[in-house]
Amino acid sequence: MNSNDMIKSLETYFNLMSMNGTAYVFNIANKMKFFKPFVIKEQLTSTEIAKALCLKENPVKLVLETLISIKVLEKNGDLYSLSSVTKYLTGNYENLSSDYWEHLPKLLTEGNPYKKMDQVSDSENEYKVQVKSLEWMMSPSAVITAKMFPISKKNNLSILDVGAGSGVWSFAFLKENETATAALADWPGVLDVAKDSAKKQNLNNRVKYIEGNYHETNFNSDYDLAIIANVTHIESTEGNQSLFKKIKAALRPNGILLIVDVFGNNKKGDVNKCLYQLGLALRTTKGEVYPPATLQEWLTTLGYREFNFHSLDVVPYTMGILSATTP
Ligand SMILES: C[S@@+](CC[C@H](N)C(=O)[O-])C[C@H]1O[C@@H](n2cnc3c(N)ncnc32)[C@H](O)[C@@H]1O
Repeated sequence: MNSNDMIKSLETYFNLMSMNGTAYVFNIANKMKFFKPFVIKEQLTSTEIAKALCLKENPVKLVLETLISIKVLEKNGDLYSLSSVTKYLTGNYENLSSDYWEHLPKLLTEGNPYKKMDQVSDSENEYKVQVKSLEWMMSPSAVITAKMFPISKKNNLSILDVGAGSGVWSFAFLKENETATAALADWPGVLDVAKDSAKKQNLNNRVKYIEGNYHETNFNSDYDLAIIANVTHIESTEGNQSLFKKIKAALRPNGILLIVDVFGNNKKGDVNKCLYQLGLALRTTKGEVYPPATLQEWLTTLGYREFNFHSLDVVPYTMGILSATTP
């Protein structure tokens, strides 16, 4: 092995060691309630934390320093405090989805997913929780997207957001264009999350809701722009084709369709993308990220044209957008 190869192998080894160690330390600290004492007092010394948790101070200090190195905690003098990332470590994500990963052996041996989020029977209940997290996860991508397409500037832009969730994608366009309006299609329980968000962002007078199964509800027509974000991977081939057909009927001639999914080709997102696809197998029965070329084939058959693909260079570095125009 030449010295370059040796350095590369050692880098891979230390990356693995560091990812594994980080995951262990974070999960053990979380299970042993390291973050709870900060609920009572924002800044604490290691002695106070060890005492509150009834643990030995020396190893506690080493764990705290490791949590600082991974930016979960901050330190000012002798005082430790929670960093801003902890605001995302709530709900489903409190344990970084460890319960999903623990199900992986069962998926491998028996083939059964942990959740069935793509089943109509489970979808509303699962997504009314999930879309709250998707809102902050997708927000930087949505902001960039709304600035990227010239149509976002159109006067009185009218948007249809299919499987809208929290509304994060169409709301980014509404913020970019004060004359724009949006219609959000999703389950009523999920749209409650979007209603809250619209109110908080002072967008509620420009948003309408189409509540129910998006395969069955009436979208109306005359939209300039349709967005279908993170939906194609939970739909079957037939489900996607019939949604694209329905969207085409809802768009004006020369209307724009944006399909957003985890099909970006940014190298920085390689690991996130693999973990995402594995996560999809853990939480759906048939979830699948279709390549843009496959989606384009289906869209071409339906008469869509002028296809463009963009990969987003923003965290999580996995998102891609396929745009198409209606005849
Ligand atoms: C992965 S989430 C994406 C949400 C949002 N577009 C985003 O990117 O943050 C998929 C959304 O599709 C909705 N959905 C799935 N199947 C549906 C159906 N049959 N009818 C209505 N909404 C559905 C879910 O409730 C969920 O809000």
